[in-house]
Parts: sequence; C-alpha cells; structure tokens
Amino acid sequence: MKRRKITPKLKESALIVLQARYLVRDEENQIVETPEALFERVAFSVAEGEKNFRKSSSKWEYYGERFYELMAALDFLPNSPTLMNAGRPLGQLSACFVLPVYDSLDSIFETLKYAALIHKSGGGTGFNFSRLRPKGDIVFSTSGVASGPVSFMQVYDSATEAIKQGGKRRGANMGILNVDHPDIEEFITIKSTTGVLTNFNISVGIKDNFIEALKKGEPYALINPRTGKVVTEVSSQKLFDLLVEKAWETGDPGVIFLDTINRFNPTPNLGHIEATNPCGEQPLLPFESCNLGSINLANFVKDGDLDWDRLKETIELAVRFLDDVIEVNRFPLPQIAKITTLNRKIGLGVMGFADMLIKLRIAYSEERALEIAEKVMSFINQESLRASAVLAEERGAFPAFPGSLWDQWGYPPLRNATTTTIAPTGTLSLIAGVSSSIEPLFGIYYERKTLGGIIIKEVHPLFEEILSEEGYSEREIEALQAEIMEKGLISKINLKEPLKKLFLTAFEISPDIHLSIQRIFQKYTHNAVSKTINLPEDTTPEEIKRIYLTAYEWGLKGVTVYRYGSKPEQVIYIKKGE
Ligand code: CDP
Repeated sequence: MKRRKITPKLKESALIVLQARYLVRDEENQIVETPEALFERVAFSVAEGEKNFRKSSSKWEYYGERFYELMAALDFLPNSPTLMNAGRPLGQLSACFVLPVYDSLDSIFETLKYAALIHKSGGGTGFNFSRLRPKGDIVFSTSGVASGPVSFMQVYDSATEAIKQGGKRRGANMGILNVDHPDIEEFITIKSTTGVLTNFNISVGIKDNFIEALKKGEPYALINPRTGKVVTEVSSQKLFDLLVEKAWETGDPGVIFLDTINRFNPTPNLGHIEATNPCGEQPLLPFESCNLGSINLANFVKDGDLDWDRLKETIELAVRFLDDVIEVNRFPLPQIAKITTLNRKIGLGVMGFADMLIKLRIAYSEERALEIAEKVMSFINQESLRASAVLAEERGAFPAFPGSLWDQWGYPPLRNATTTTIAPTGTLSLIAGVSSSIEPLFGIYYERKTLGGIIIKEVHPLFEEILSEEGYSEREIEALQAEIMEKGLISKINLKEPLKKLFLTAFEISPDIHLSIQRIFQKYTHNAVSKTINLPEDTTPEEIKRIYLTAYEWGLKGVTVYRYGSKPEQVIYIKKGE
C-alpha cells in the first residue's frame, strides 16, 4: 500500500465500530485490514465505475485517489454496506430497498427470501402489507380463512431474527399498513406487546382522504384490498386517537404521508410509491434500491462560517462517487437491478449538523439555526443537481428521465432521479466522530449502544474544546463534566449562558424546534428526512397528535416521535439526575 497524504483520524469509538463489523477478516476471523486500507479498498473499487465511460476511463485512478481523500478526511462517508462490501465478494453496496408483497403465499414467501438475501448484505427492507387480504377473509384454494397481514409480518420478523447472526448487521425492516386496511387497528396496537416485531419499525400509511375525514369529523371507510369493497366504517377520530396513544406508549407506529410522497414521485410513469426503507428517509418504488452517503458538516466550519467552496467540491465529488456506486454495485436480484438503473436514485445527506452549529456558536433552538440549515441544505440540493446534470452530459441521463417530473419542470437532463436524502447516519456518525444526521446532541455525557451491543461512553468532545476556547480552566471543565455525569441534563448544570443554550440536548429542545428543523431540511430534500421528534417523558398523547397533524400540514413525508423511556430498550441513555 502506497503512503498517502491523509491518514484517517479516528476516535477510539470509531475504531471499535470499524473493528466490530467493517474491517476485513481472514478465515480465522482475524482482522487483516487497517482503516486506511478500508478507505482505499472502497475508493478504488468504486472508482472502477469510471472505467465504464469513455470520458473518464483513463482517469479512474485519479478519482480513486480523490475518493480516498474524501473519506479519509471524514468529509463524506457512503452508507455502511458500501464500506463493508465494496471490493469484496458480496459487492452489494446499498442500504435501502423496498420489496412488493402481493396477496398470495407464493409472493409472501418469495419476498421473504429476497429480504433475507438483502439483510445478509447489510441492506434494510421496507414493505407495504396492504395488498394482503384481511384476517378472517376467505382463502378459496383451501376453503380456509386468511391470517392477515399482521401475522405474516411476524413471520418476516422471525426470519429476520434467525438470519441476524450470519449477516453483516442486524436486519432492519419497515412495515407499512395503509390507514384504510381492515386490519389497521390490530396493526396499530401490535407493538404494545413486548418482544413482538422487534426487527420492524412500523408506520401507518396515511392518505389525504383520512386527514379530510378527521378534520370534518366524518367516519372513514376500511376497504378489503381483495374485493375493493368497503368492509366497515370507523370513527376517524377514534382511529387517530388509538394511533397517537400507541405512539405515546411505545414510539410506534410512526406515520408516513403517502399522497405527499407520491406528489414528489419523480417518475410516476414507472409506478406508485407505497413504502420507504426502514428508517423512513427513502421512499422507493417496488424493487427499487438506493445508495446513500453523508457529508460531515462539522468539517466545513472555517473562520466562523462554512467553507462554501470546499463544500461545493465535496458535493460534486460525492455525487460522482454515489453514481459510480450504481455502476459497480452487485444487485441482489435482476428486478432490483432493472428499476434501480432506470432511475439511478442517489441520496446525499448530512451528518454533524449539531456539531457544526456548536462550532459556529449557534444554538439548535435559535432562529439562526433554521437560517443556516436552509442555506446549507438548499446549497447541497442545488449543487448536487448541478453535479448530476454535468454527469448526465458525460454519461447520459437516467433512462427514465423523459416524462419524469424533472423533464416536465423543464430541467436539463439529470443523471439521477433524486440526489438528496437525510439518513440517520447511526453508524457513519460514530465512524466520523460527530453528532448524527441533523439531530441535536443526545447528551453531553452519554452511553451509546452500537451494533452487537458494544457500549460506548463519551463526553462530547466539543464541550471541552469550546469551554477552553471561552477561557474555562482545565479544572473548571473537569468539574463541569463531573456534574454532567452526575446530573445528566445540561439544563441542571451550573453553566453560564449563552454556553448553556449551545449544549442543550435532544430532550431539552421543544418538539416544535425539532419539527421546524425537519421541515427546513425536507424543503430541500428530494427523498425524505429521517428525524426523531424526541419528547420528554411527561409529554401527553394530545401533544403527539398535534405534532403528527402539523407534520402533515407542513408537507413532511413522515414523522417519528420518541418519548424518553417509552421503549424497554433504547439506543442512547442519558442520565436523568432526578
Ligand atoms: O450509518 P449507516 O450507514 O450505517 O446507516 P443509517 O444512516 O443509520 O441508516 C440508513 C439506512 O440503512 C436505514 O434506513 C436502513 O435502510 C439501513 N439500515 C439497516 O438496514 N440496518 C441497520 N441496522 C441500520 C441501517
């Protein structure tokens, strides 16, 4: 391996994560790869994609070097399956898949098999189960009765559980049932039973006509998908109350707004979008997959502003990288290869947003945070589209461009049907050592559980950095850190403003602020935004209802809430210090 200018500066927690699942091992299960070699493997195998095009084939090594620098500097990281599988025998590089489930045993089990193959490679799968006939409906071939979508979801869950050990990481699923399916109540309440559907996030597919019925106080018709006939009418109010109560109780179900999503389906001629990937940020057509990548915003703060020129270059290179991923990707099924290469969707997003704000001395809860969010994301949106248009000139537009929304809106040909997605960056942010996605800090001192149950305990590194810049002595900082470890929440600590406001954490920030940040990012994101509206333990169901309805009015594509302590096992713990 040649000596390179940049060697990755990784924190200990990043090394732990890389060692656990990402670095290549030999047959004796010994790690045989350094982080530097990992980035090199990924960079050069993705740059192989350049060889497919006359204009760049001779420059593939040049791009390999640039991709290496992009990742080694931790300016940008592609989604986990790319880091794990690029240049490896599996070669499956995407995090997000949606698979269709039709109303037959054949389809149910065929799709389950596909899902197993995808999980094995580190990808996540989303399904809409609404085509399945309801529980108790007739099965003609056996003269029996149908068990209904919820029982088949449990079969999917068990299969996911069983293949967990052999795969690259714990398989994740999104299960959706539309609000007008006759089994909707059973679906809404299913996760109240502990231990059920633990490998699923679930969301109710809300349609515009449901919100209309709700607003007018009208009943709502539930329809058997097999016959298209109304089975019963329920009170829209009661159904919504039940949904909200369960979300209050367990965090599930979330909601996705199907009509909003389809209004922005870039290629309606190719089909209707009915589901998203597991964390909700990527709506996709049946059999479609998408590869994501995130820019580390914390790395772009320079002299009290962002280095916009460097950010622009990074966006261009990241778009090129993600488009090359589609070239070299080994798709798990021919159906997936077909639709994915027709649209060539990529999802460029961000991580380290909260850290960026802290470095700029802007509190997450201030108006200025919204202003900079708008400036950054509109820039990423615009520059990524520009980069995609340049690639289209070199390589051709995505094949489904003619007749797409972009085409109808008069855009120049684009290489990708979408360029932006805000992913949760659960692992990527640990590797980069920054705050995740667009979320505020979860705690100044926290314990975070990673893949395979490793527990990482950390005091947020910027806390010490900023305080010492502000003239606090080492002793004072240590005393404050000890106080935080003891009391948990920053609001309970003896720290001066405006510093205190700067370090407010997820559960101390109002839901309206969480939602406003989500709204701004959604405004400039073609796909969706994964965001959790974190709520304090004493939040009421009424409040959750208001959040869901505001999210709809604001044109968000979905929303997830999490009330502190409402899940038996949560990923991040902060000390509450009563
Ligand atoms: O940071 P990383 O690339 O590992 O993933 P993320 O941004 O937290 O999640 C992005 C997507 O990866 C999710 O929405 C899922 O589609 C997929 N994923 C998965 O399949 N299994 C997991 N355990 C985590 C994520």
